[in-house]
Amino acid sequence: MSSHGEARAMVSRKSAGLRGQAEVPGDKSISHRALILGALAVGETRVSGLLEGQDVLDTASAMRAFGAEVEKRGDVWHVTGVGVGGFAEPAQVIDCGNSGTGVRLIMGAMATTPISATFTGDASLNKRPMARITDPLRQFGAHAYGRSGGRLPLVLVGAEQAMPVRYATPVPSAQVKSAVLLAGLNAPGETVVIEREATRDHSERMLAGFGAVISSEDGPEGRVITLQGQPELRPQVIAVPRDPSSAAFPVCAALITEGSDVLVPNIGLNPTRAGLFFTLQEMGADLVFENPREEGGEPVADLRARFSPNLRGIEVPAERAASMIDEYPVLSVVAAFAEGRTHMPGVKELRVKESDRIEAMAVGLRACGVTVEAGEDWWTVEGRGFGAVPGGATVATHLDHRIAMSFLVLGLATEAPVTVDDGGPIATSFPVFEPLMRGLGADLGAADADPAR
Ligand code: S3P
Repeated sequence: MSSHGEARAMVSRKSAGLRGQAEVPGDKSISHRALILGALAVGETRVSGLLEGQDVLDTASAMRAFGAEVEKRGDVWHVTGVGVGGFAEPAQVIDCGNSGTGVRLIMGAMATTPISATFTGDASLNKRPMARITDPLRQFGAHAYGRSGGRLPLVLVGAEQAMPVRYATPVPSAQVKSAVLLAGLNAPGETVVIEREATRDHSERMLAGFGAVISSEDGPEGRVITLQGQPELRPQVIAVPRDPSSAAFPVCAALITEGSDVLVPNIGLNPTRAGLFFTLQEMGADLVFENPREEGGEPVADLRARFSPNLRGIEVPAERAASMIDEYPVLSVVAAFAEGRTHMPGVKELRVKESDRIEAMAVGLRACGVTVEAGEDWWTVEGRGFGAVPGGATVATHLDHRIAMSFLVLGLATEAPVTVDDGGPIATSFPVFEPLMRGLGADLGAADADPAR
């Protein structure tokens, strides 16, 4: 079952060269943050290029439930905020669907307001760890009552009198960092987050844009981020850049599909997000950053990816993991077509994403004829070289959009088709994946569309 509907099996088959331009949707991380900070500002924030994936739409509904006005007029989303500390107590359960980012950031944003809310999600989200969020939120004075292991459904009671917090994140997680910073907005004094490894910094950039006083410094303990509490956030006009994590799919598909030449324009290359593209270049990919420029304070370029028959397996530096954490599934697909072994250490966090992504990819790749070894925080893929990956399996996607898209990319270059049990969750982050890929020439679609094949 998809998070929001019936399971929909999909299949992909060996394709002739992918060609053309791939206009991928807006960045998921930035879209969530634009809605949440817009809801906490005083006045009307306008957002263009918002990702209209289910994850973000669920965050929009949640912001309405907390009292903000959120509506789309023409192509622009208008968010009328209630001000820091102004969230109203929601009258209904907040259902964040499949979205860890949505639920974790929203819990942070309400934790220092004296209201309570009940949070839930789909079967995937309700399995994911929430203690990593509720632990620091308790330090602000909030109370959380969840299922065992701190899992959803969970009731969060916001602090009556919030205290500022100094918190060293125990796991490299932008969601944890962001939840603490959002909670710190309505605490008096300075809230400090220390992260040993830098994770995506969209919250810090956007908080500064909304007028919060926030600074980041790199020191011996890692990155120290300091936020002054109780600012008045000023509404913003935000143009959401396109999502590098979605760009990864047409880029990787082009690299492994013979005869491909694909342009993916306007992709944000924030260094805390762009690790995959540098990794692919190290593997020998014909991937070029064209027309590099700055837009809205973020580095941006057009990505040109061409078929790359001579990819090599590499050691992916563990310290790069945070900057490409969502891209390991599709990287492992590219690694299957490389010569030699790709070793991916330092990736324990992959086990607590929408699915256990190491396990899901390992099982599916093995079923498609690829040798994979895995430990708790590492995995290796033995590349078979171009034209030598059998495919021919049906793979379980475990309500995980990136597992579904990764295996559909794999099937574009395997000898036999690859089927995924459910492509429904793709709509959480990349609702136009299927038409976009087909527009490039990819042979993929509903598994039952043509039973004769
Ligand atoms: C995200 C952070 C990452 C990433 C997720 C989006 C964010 O999760 O996997 O897709 O927007 O902050 P973690 O922070 O848990 O690593």
